[in-house]
Amino acid sequence: MTQLADVGVIGMATMGSNLARNLARNDYKVAIYNREYAKTQTVMKDHGEEGAFIPTKTFEEFVDSLSKPRCAIIMVKAGAPTDEVITKLSELMEPGDLIVDGGNSLFSDTIRREKTAASKGLEFVGCGISGGEEGALNGPAIMPGGSIEAYKRIGPMLEKISAKAVEDNEPCCTHVGANGAGHFVKMVHNAIEYADMQVISEAYDILRKCLHLSALEIAEIFADWNSGVLSSYLIEITVDILRHRDLETQKPLVDLVLDQAQQKGTGSWTVQVAAEMGVPISGIAEAVFARSLSSSVTQRELAQTKLGIPDAYQSDSELVNGIESFIEDVRQALYASKIVAYSQGLGVIQAGAHKYNWDIDLGNIAKIWRAGCIIRASFLDQVTQAYRRNPDLPLLLADDYFLGQVQKAQPHWRRVVSFATNAGISIPVFSSSLSYFDAIRDPQLPTNLIQTQRDYFGAHTYQRTDKPGVFHTLWSTADRREVEV
Ligand code: 6PG
Repeated sequence: MTQLADVGVIGMATMGSNLARNLARNDYKVAIYNREYAKTQTVMKDHGEEGAFIPTKTFEEFVDSLSKPRCAIIMVKAGAPTDEVITKLSELMEPGDLIVDGGNSLFSDTIRREKTAASKGLEFVGCGISGGEEGALNGPAIMPGGSIEAYKRIGPMLEKISAKAVEDNEPCCTHVGANGAGHFVKMVHNAIEYADMQVISEAYDILRKCLHLSALEIAEIFADWNSGVLSSYLIEITVDILRHRDLETQKPLVDLVLDQAQQKGTGSWTVQVAAEMGVPISGIAEAVFARSLSSSVTQRELAQTKLGIPDAYQSDSELVNGIESFIEDVRQALYASKIVAYSQGLGVIQAGAHKYNWDIDLGNIAKIWRAGCIIRASFLDQVTQAYRRNPDLPLLLADDYFLGQVQKAQPHWRRVVSFATNAGISIPVFSSSLSYFDAIRDPQLPTNLIQTQRDYFGAHTYQRTDKPGVFHTLWSTADRREVEV
């Protein structure tokens, strides 16, 4: 009888097949299954030699080919396709078996699925996997949720196939927390990714519109930035992208790409969840809406016809301190906005952990994001250190190191925001992050007026600064006065 598989992977699209290959290359025997068997055959034909695979044609064959207690990793589209696979697996699996969902599932679906699986005696791990195709194959960052018992079983395997941080060779995988915690953290990872990509794009936009630089010239600036605090995978690929010429026209490809950004949902889920929990993530929200705006074709066409492009950026705007120093201003604005985005994103994780009772170590999360994932960046080491200094830090921005960095960036940031605003260049994340920074430290926000407005039209009450209690003003009575309620 042939030896049974250590693990199985369902879904042979790029992420699934690459993850299966990664497991096989790490000496695991891997059963593979895809709805259309032809895809499984292609994987076998192209990569069958890389390790020990068991190609299977049916769910029954797949489940039967796994050694007990079984472990199956689902790599199919989030939503209904994932539910379908789970239902089929649950019918065939036995108590003690383990299902891992490695897709970008909504964390609340994961909480529900874990409960259903538990009622059948099955373990369920909702597992965030980041790093795209290349990461899945060579080592992604892995964010598994679920029970500690499940992690004890699957953790060593996930750690083995995960990316290793260059700094200390530590695996980029840790048990994030119970049930939906892994997918929650992956969702926020993606939202930070949105903000990170948007701030890079805003810097690119300012450089091309204010300094009239070409894609190739901007690539050199970004290449230079990539050696400092901004050093990250996203800056690195941006350099590569900006240098790439379209084969047909020999023009920089980026100049030929339609400016309508798409999205699959994790960014807007984060914004919805944060809004429900009352966590202000304005920078991240702006990054999500920047994509929506770019794809609002009808509205954009109408606005372009009616409003025209801003006057200012058609002419050469004056740079008070010269080009070099303006470029440095943009670099600092990018860096400060990025710090705000991470501070906001980690704040959502903290609030989620509180709400759902997850014991999430933010320092460890930043640690496993150092390699493998899309937002990998050298500055994540500093994020880990900030949470090591204070594990309950309520605001990353208020950590001494980051505050120092942002304070240093402040004059540059302000110059860029006002310059771009005057020039009519949209910089939603640069400006909203600066506004967040100014608001969060402001001892006197104008929300006192909002509270009184609410009380005026809706008797919603307010608190006072000079004495404790809850008050209402009898606004429409003849003897208008304040009453304690
Ligand atoms: C990752 C990526 C990955 C991804 C998303 C982005 O961590 O590997 O975040 O999950 O590329 O699918 O999706 P959208 O930009 O399409 O929303």
